[in-house]
Amino acid sequence: MVESGGSIRIGVLISGGGSNLQALIDHCQNGFIPGQIVLVISNEATAFGLERARRHGIATLVIAHRAFPSRAEFDQAMQEALDQAQVDLVCLAGFMRILTPGFVHHYHQRLLNIHPALLPAFPGLRVQARALASGARFSGATVQFVASEVDAGPIIAQAVVPILAGDTPESLAERILIQEHRLYPLAVRLFAMNRLQVDGQRVRILDADANAQSSLLNPPWEAC
Ligand code: GRF
Repeated sequence: MVESGGSIRIGVLISGGGSNLQALIDHCQNGFIPGQIVLVISNEATAFGLERARRHGIATLVIAHRAFPSRAEFDQAMQEALDQAQVDLVCLAGFMRILTPGFVHHYHQRLLNIHPALLPAFPGLRVQARALASGARFSGATVQFVASEVDAGPIIAQAVVPILAGDTPESLAERILIQEHRLYPLAVRLFAMNRLQVDGQRVRILDADANAQSSLLNPPWEAC
């Protein structure tokens, strides 16, 4: 449990470009997230996210999954590094490996992921192509606590993105990513402020305005 009002220590796991990592770095630096990223681990040596971390003087580690005989040993190596860095929270940000139940259990309610769809719709891979093919009028992004089953943990926050007539998987992914960069810092801020209370599959946001609401219509009312 994190002391409220303190500054949390965050570890981030990546595999690629790291634009979500960048959003977290920026929001730690501008004070929106009361915390600091103390370690970035990538399973891919060429991930551009590593370069982003280095530019900000953040410690980086490459732990190549291919170098380990089993998933459990790979996860164990990451766990040792994260524990040594004394992280309070681990954020998956475009991390493309499935984690073992042992790792997930070790960081129970201290492990977050961002997924480019409105879970529980479209878990897994090829998410935007599947959302388009389904005919859904909305997709979006989800931040959740990680559970052993892929993309199935308690949901903390979601952003809705309309699917437009001319969308391709790429154009939809691009618009979702813009929302991801707002959503992930928001969820991490709430975690860092100790304002998330997990009750089964539901996450209660403490001290939130219970009456605040907004809704989205697609097609928008004004267009019809
Ligand atoms: C994001 O769309 C994230 O939701 C998904 O992988 C993508 C990572 O992008 N899990 P980036 O590496 O943060 O730019």
